[in-house]
Amino acid sequence: ALERTLSIIKPDAVAKNVIGEIYTRFEKAGLKVVASKMKHLSKQEAEGFYAVHRERPFFAALVEFMISGPVVIQALQGENAVLKHRELMGATNPKDAAPGTIRADFADSIDANAVHGSDSLENAAIEIAYFFPGTDVYAR
Ligand code: CMP
Repeated sequence: ALERTLSIIKPDAVAKNVIGEIYTRFEKAGLKVVASKMKHLSKQEAEGFYAVHRERPFFAALVEFMISGPVVIQALQGENAVLKHRELMGATNPKDAAPGTIRADFADSIDANAVHGSDSLENAAIEIAYFFPGTDVYAR
């Protein structure tokens, strides 16, 4: 089915100057960028985005990392976009990520892991709405 998913290029990957390389992977896989922005998140924005992880031991470090520099946030649209994007990213821990995935190629650790992607269609809708008003998502 035609889906949308929320994708974030994290501060480590922005610092490595691989925004374009990562966008190219999305495009070559048939995912279209339908919303996009660069943003230096506030602590409050990062905490709100990752609220589901509030009780996890890594929450504070995750938030500090996500506000350590600007990120690039996009909504991607395509057939099976949620799963397709997760396959392009590879496993959360780059040590477990398959060769050729974004995390295998660009991530350094489970914390600095280059990209975020929605884990379900339901969360994708919540996450896209968190960062983009409906008028900033361009169906195409
Ligand atoms: P992300 O997909 O952005 O969702 C939450 C993030 O928490 C995850 O990627 C990792 O970067 C980070 N994280 C740190 N430790 C863990 C862990 N043990 N399990 C899952 N995520 C972790």
